[in-house]
Amino acid sequence: MSNVVYLISGPNLDELGTREPAIYGATTLQQHVERFREGARRVGLGVTHVQSNFEGDLVEAIHQARLDDALAIVINAASLTHYSWSLRDALANFGGIKIEVHLSNPLAREDFRHVSTLAAVVDGSIAGFRELSYDLALAAVVARRDASASSATDPA
Ligand code: DQA
Repeated sequence: MSNVVYLISGPNLDELGTREPAIYGATTLQQHVERFREGARRVGLGVTHVQSNFEGDLVEAIHQARLDDALAIVINAASLTHYSWSLRDALANFGGIKIEVHLSNPLAREDFRHVSTLAAVVDGSIAGFRELSYDLALAAVVARRDASASSATDPA
């Protein structure tokens, strides 16, 4: 198991900063990634970030995380969250920690956002805390990592 977290960002997240700031805030994707990377560095983790507006690129990023034996995937699949069975299936075949993250709270928004194809195959979902959502996702990764490390060393 490597110490790398794959941070995966879906369609339109490259426009954060100018994209509907009343909903998503004014922070750019690059700023979110830098903050996540710095937080990860402090707990001994590296970050590989992939953003794409194309579903297949995101599927391949998940495959790559598996091939790299990554510790975790933190994924904001953006609108693909609500209809991508390909991302769901790719995540199902990744054995590490999986956290779904959203800046806004999709359940408090339009009906089409109330479904997540990913929810059933991830460890958990964090939504609605804007930039803090990424901090909380990282905290969840670390908590899961530490829990499995201590259960591995528990006397039988
Ligand atoms: C989002 C929520 C999705 O419904 C939306 O399509 C996005 C961003 C979020 O982070 O709040 O693009 O994933």
